[in-house]
Amino acid sequence: MRTQVGIIGGGPSGLLLSQLLHRRGIETVVLEKHSREYVLERIRAGVLEHSFAELMREAQVGERMDREGQIHDGFYIAHGGIKKRVDLRALTGGKTVIVYGQTELTRDLYEARDQAGGILIHNAADVKPHDLASPHPYLTYRLGEETVRIDCDYIVGCDGFHGVSRQSIPKEKVRTFERVYPFGWLGVLTRTEPVSPELIYARHERGFALCSLRSPTLSRYYIQVPLSDSVDNWPDEQFFDELRRRLPAGVSEAMITGPSIEKSIAPLRSFVIEPMRFGKLFLAGDAGHILPPTGARGLNTAASDIHYLYHALVDHYSQRDDRGLESYSQRALARVWKGQRFSWWMTNLLHRFPDSSPFDERIQETELAYLFSSEKALALLAENYVGLPL
Ligand code: FAD
Ligand code: DHB
Repeated sequence: MRTQVGIIGGGPSGLLLSQLLHRRGIETVVLEKHSREYVLERIRAGVLEHSFAELMREAQVGERMDREGQIHDGFYIAHGGIKKRVDLRALTGGKTVIVYGQTELTRDLYEARDQAGGILIHNAADVKPHDLASPHPYLTYRLGEETVRIDCDYIVGCDGFHGVSRQSIPKEKVRTFERVYPFGWLGVLTRTEPVSPELIYARHERGFALCSLRSPTLSRYYIQVPLSDSVDNWPDEQFFDELRRRLPAGVSEAMITGPSIEKSIAPLRSFVIEPMRFGKLFLAGDAGHILPPTGARGLNTAASDIHYLYHALVDHYSQRDDRGLESYSQRALARVWKGQRFSWWMTNLLHRFPDSSPFDERIQETELAYLFSSEKALALLAENYVGLPL
């Protein structure tokens, strides 16, 4: 088999790139390790920035997002028993975010690829990129007993943090940067009315908590837990008791609880690989970087990689102009690092660190007090949360 762009990974990054390139007449093959059902069961991101939504519309897959997604003008930060609003729209001159689940947008992308007759191979085992430093790279994968080879012009690694793409780059050709946080987020999805129509990020001495949502009838809640914790230690009742303790009284009292329909722990990590390219291989999304979820940047940063790479590939195929491909890593990384800085800052501001001293805690409290006493400080937060310019 032959294609122009071979894509490893059928998560949001790989599917979005494939759909965008298809619209410009560029062929792709997407190889996904898991089944469609498995990919759609992973409950992850919920907050999309404006430029992500624009990319979905450009790919002609924004219709349901625009119909069912909710525009959020602001969110709350709770601490010391009260909640304060960050008015995104007012602080950014009219910018907002959209609440629309990663599961839903992945479903929309699958549908669009199916309708267009796109080649998307699920349950592709042992996917391997080959000859990446040569002009003729290729992919192999196994389907049952058969090993299939796909010759490509370029290979794009969209296979997430645990994928094979990043591992295929010789160690001496790259540098990695990492911070592993000593905690994770325990997340619960329930079919209940959300406690607040806008997100609440809560700092509390018992640990961070987040009240989020997917729709007027679907709530998503998170609490900070130690890295060593397990979902088995958290029956629903205990989860909601702990969540309530970390929220202002008015919020806790109003909370409607229900049985969890999903419960999982996500560890918090910051990670970047430089460069995000090796020969004919380009990395995009979680394959190249992981951001702690506190600033809702992970998927949005993946989308900015896709934006740069999509335009670079279109310039290559339509005008033989390779400047975008040559500068891809540098441009993508500039935005990745800004997202990292913001996510790191939000994580430090709102979590309880096991080794934090009374001094560290006063600094955290002062940072929050300063934030809500200064329009300029709040504007910086809002500017980053809605997404920096591409
Ligand atoms: P992935 O979604 O990881 O997709 C990679 C795909 O590649 C997968 O389908 C995988 O099965 C496949 N794959 C892996 N290995 C191979 C292989 N060897 N061969 C073939 N296929 C392979 N981001 C936000 O912007 N906003 C948020 O609000 C937000 N909230 C989050 C909350 C949580 C709890 C978590 C965990 C993450 C959150 N994120 C958020 C981050 C966001 O979910 C990720 O950044 C996003 O999933 C990245 O998409 P991706 O396509 O790059 O990678
Ligand atoms: C959600 C996840 C986040 O990381 C975040 O910052 C906001 C919302 C969510 O899953 O809804």
